[in-house]
Amino acid sequence: MAIGFNVAIVGATGAVGNEFLRLFEERNFPIASLRLLASARSVGQTATYKGETLTIQEAKPDSFEGIDFAFFSAGASRSRNLVPAAVEAGAIVIDNSSAFRMDPRVPLVVPEVNGNLVDGISRVYAVPNCTAIILLVAVNPLRELGEIERLVVSTYQSASGGGAKVMNELIEETAHEIGALRGLPAEGAKSEKVLPHPYAFNLFSHNTPVNEFGYNEEEWKVIEESRKILDLPELRINVTCVRVPVLRAHSESVTIEFAGEAPSEEQVREALSRAPGVRIVDDRESNTFPMPILASGQGDVLVGRIRKDLSHPSAISMFIAGDQLLKGAALNAVQIAEMVINVGQPYRDEQFV
Ligand SMILES: NC(=O)c1ccc[n+]([C@@H]2O[C@H](COP(=O)([O-])OP(=O)(O)OC[C@H]3O[C@@H](n4cnc5c(N)ncnc54)[C@H](OP(=O)(O)O)[C@@H]3O)[C@@H](O)[C@H]2O)c1
Repeated sequence: MAIGFNVAIVGATGAVGNEFLRLFEERNFPIASLRLLASARSVGQTATYKGETLTIQEAKPDSFEGIDFAFFSAGASRSRNLVPAAVEAGAIVIDNSSAFRMDPRVPLVVPEVNGNLVDGISRVYAVPNCTAIILLVAVNPLRELGEIERLVVSTYQSASGGGAKVMNELIEETAHEIGALRGLPAEGAKSEKVLPHPYAFNLFSHNTPVNEFGYNEEEWKVIEESRKILDLPELRINVTCVRVPVLRAHSESVTIEFAGEAPSEEQVREALSRAPGVRIVDDRESNTFPMPILASGQGDVLVGRIRKDLSHPSAISMFIAGDQLLKGAALNAVQIAEMVINVGQPYRDEQFV
């Protein structure tokens, strides 16, 4: 392998883990060695990186010897258990889980929004919730047009946001339901059911626990993390998160309320056209706007349906879609690592715990 950094992926067999492998190749991330880690269940499985076959190892506290960058995407409890060991071993951690996002010591970074927090000092960077990242890439550029007072967001979240098992569940359940509609005999047993409700030809409120205020965990993460990332602790946000039977990429309906009069459509369009990580898809004539199928596999967040909210003089509305496995997870993490490399972060000189 080329000269570069020693890199580990924790959760290498997962939906996000797979994207890391592809992105490292695509972006020519400077890798000297790559260690693929997952649960004991996957030990001995293989994955390919730049034509080389790599064997999956079990992620354990002693897995990080000599590692420069550890990318975590194996769930919050694994991050809580293993991130301190990775930092202790000298690695810089970029964590996709929710474990450290709200820790005041940990920068919660969307490079296009608050990349200035990549400071050359932190040992752990948290990648925000995927729905929040997609939202903020599209909303942040509008802050130059006026003070944002309130956001109202409704989401249409895909199966891939729940990981590989949920994607399988949607595919198999859809095949099963189509078979049933056509009167065909059921094809084999359905795979393990992760979601609490029928998924094919259905949609339901996000499948995370609901808190005392009636908001589910996903909605609460969007609220809290958006406030932290934008550094607007008082920002008013109302979010409704819904799981829809789309395989990949999340969509969101967003209404943005400004402190004064709303900017014009032209101003919004102009600000978004200059914004990094944003692509405007807004063709009224052909009725073509952001769609998950257009966003899948893309690094940019697609923004369209840009219009004044005619029910409120201070508000504008838009519809956005983004690939949450990429910009909402792996790509955002790799971008943070690239920024760390660019600021010349000193390695192995500070401890996180
Ligand atoms: N999916 C998304 O869009 C998205 C977006 C942002 C953040 N995230 C976060 O990224 C993480 C992974 O999500 P995902 O969608 O990739 O999930 P996934 O497809 O279910 O993959 C989970 C990964 O975690 C590994 N894992 C599970 N238990 C483990 C253990 N005890 N020790 C070591 N590794 C273990 C799995 O390994 P085995 O194959 O061996 O079980 C697998 O590689 C989660 O924290 C999630 O919240 C996901």
